[in-house]
Amino acid sequence: MLEPGATIGILGGGQLGRMIAMAAARLGYRAHVFAGEGDSPAAQVAATATVGAYDDPHKLDEFAAAVDVATFEFENIPADAVRRVAARKPVMPRPEILEITQDRLREKGFLNGIGVATTSYQEVGDLAALARALASLEGRAVLKSARMGYDGKGQVAVHPGTSPDGAWLRMGSGRGILERFVDFQCEVSVVVARGEDGAMAAYPPVENRHVNHILDTTIAPASLSVAQMREAESIARDIATRLDLLGVLAVEMFVTRDGRLLVNELAPRPHNSGHWTIDACATSQFEQLVRAICGLPLGSTERHADAVMKNLIGDEVHTWRQAIAEPGAQVHLYGKRAVRPGRKMGHVTRLLPRR
Ligand SMILES: Nc1ncnc2c1ncn2[C@@H]1O[C@H](COP(=O)(O)OP(=O)(O)O)[C@@H](O)[C@H]1O
Ligand SMILES: [Mg+2]
Repeated sequence: MLEPGATIGILGGGQLGRMIAMAAARLGYRAHVFAGEGDSPAAQVAATATVGAYDDPHKLDEFAAAVDVATFEFENIPADAVRRVAARKPVMPRPEILEITQDRLREKGFLNGIGVATTSYQEVGDLAALARALASLEGRAVLKSARMGYDGKGQVAVHPGTSPDGAWLRMGSGRGILERFVDFQCEVSVVVARGEDGAMAAYPPVENRHVNHILDTTIAPASLSVAQMREAESIARDIATRLDLLGVLAVEMFVTRDGRLLVNELAPRPHNSGHWTIDACATSQFEQLVRAICGLPLGSTERHADAVMKNLIGDEVHTWRQAIAEPGAQVHLYGKRAVRPGRKMGHVTRLLPRR
């Protein structure tokens, strides 16, 4: 067990790192952030920060030497950087999990391999393969870059008449995945924490509404049937177990119009759809991560309120003034100076009596 006073290394400097560092501080741990830029949202609230590139071995070694355990807050940290740190200090979740989830083809292959349903998909390795796939396409599909996508980046909606050249260019990467379009009823996610002894704690499934492929609003809990709520949670627990996860995992799912659950993607870290847990649950997703990687018992996921979490994206951040004056609205701002369209600047959680 790592006692309070120990240093938790966080690879990545975004808002997830910021909220991990805040949860760590609450339990008496020190956070040490590794990020590409100074004054990152995470570094602003951490005890220590290293500014360095992920391909700078000296900076990575300096970071590894200074921490007792490390985690990551961002999926697209180069695997080599994570492996280098892991050769020197424990990294949790283990780097192999990060590598599976960094590649949509590997991720879906893993899921199907353990019997978890996803939409049907095929690999498209080059433009010629895309042209062939489009020629035999039935119905709509989504072309995604296999790696480095987030917030809908690297995704192109396609249909049987789409020109392969244009779609390939817009995807903008060497290897793609062509997924059958899911005409979903809604999107849900489950955040689950798993500790050292295999103990698990899951939050209830929540509903996620996206605008321009970016999460806009999370409604906690989701309004699914009791059976679907159980199934979603059990899928998430099963994946966490099969990954031998130590940490926190988010599982994004589609609920199809005929009521099936298809897993869309995994994130082996706290997730935007779990931000509501800070204000509405006994233990937040960020504290669960700290507990799991420090070998502490997991906390209760009991929620004392239902919640609606609204992301403040781009210019929406200016509405913080109204929100802060609103009784019961919990305002979270990430300390980002530059407002850019599509950039997550903060969020507001509104609590409601439990249904
Ligand atoms: N196969 C699909 N069918 C229908 N909608 C999709 C599909 N794939 C992605 N989407 C939509 O785009 C959003 C973002 O895609 P996702 O695969 O989660 O990538 P990321 O979150 O990494 O950008 C999803 O939450 C969903 O709304
Ligand atoms: Mg997603």
